[in-house]
Amino acid sequence: MIRQSESIWDGSSTNDATHLQVICDPRNSLSVPHPSTNQFSAKEHSALTPYRRQSVLSWLNENVPGKRLKHILRVEEMAIALARLYCLDVERAAQAGLMHDLAKFFNPKQLLQMAKEERLELDSVDVANPHLLHAEVGAIVAREEFGIQDQHVLDAIRNHTLGRPGMSPLSCVVYLADSLEPGRGDTPELAELRQTSRQDLYRAVWLTSEYTLKFLLATPNLIHPRTILTRNWAMQMAIQTGKAYKQ
Ligand SMILES: [Fe+2]
Ligand SMILES: [Fe+2]
Repeated sequence: MIRQSESIWDGSSTNDATHLQVICDPRNSLSVPHPSTNQFSAKEHSALTPYRRQSVLSWLNENVPGKRLKHILRVEEMAIALARLYCLDVERAAQAGLMHDLAKFFNPKQLLQMAKEERLELDSVDVANPHLLHAEVGAIVAREEFGIQDQHVLDAIRNHTLGRPGMSPLSCVVYLADSLEPGRGDTPELAELRQTSRQDLYRAVWLTSEYTLKFLLATPNLIHPRTILTRNWAMQMAIQTGKAYKQ
């Protein structure tokens, strides 16, 4: 059930065209994402289901351990910061950041059952490691529990673990925030990835997916093919947008 409570959103989002122009000065953008998807029309905004941050927080408090909740809040914060930097919709980034791990502690049976009910296409890696489905199932919870209908937000939740070729800049931002939020560690490699995440969106997704792959290769874990597809796509996008930027 959605509890009635105050929203943190005060209407001063970056959707306002004037505000976008000020922040989205091309001189501030070192890597320009798809221009078609980083704008947010007033019509779309008015169609969004009202979002209540406090009701999500209350739900998380009951369903997620405190340590994970801290991670979630750091992801929310980093997603907001990156969205500002890349001229994306900040409210959407905040929503996806806060709701990305809703299903993190669902058990494997529950994850598989919800995925099947949703008629998701499952491959052998999903079946062997249902925990990977927490991203897809998290989007179902966001829709069913909190009434989120915005496909941009739902996709960013779905894509936060494995990424997806062709994913939107908003999905890229949440993917990066999940992997690189400050609680993930303080190694030189992570520091460099964080710096790249503030400079070049696609290059950061490319290098972060390689970082994840290296970690997985060092463990006896199955690797989901989408992790590799995401890496190849982001690499191509980084090269293409890098070239376009230099012209
Ligand atoms: Fe997750
Ligand atoms: Fe997470």
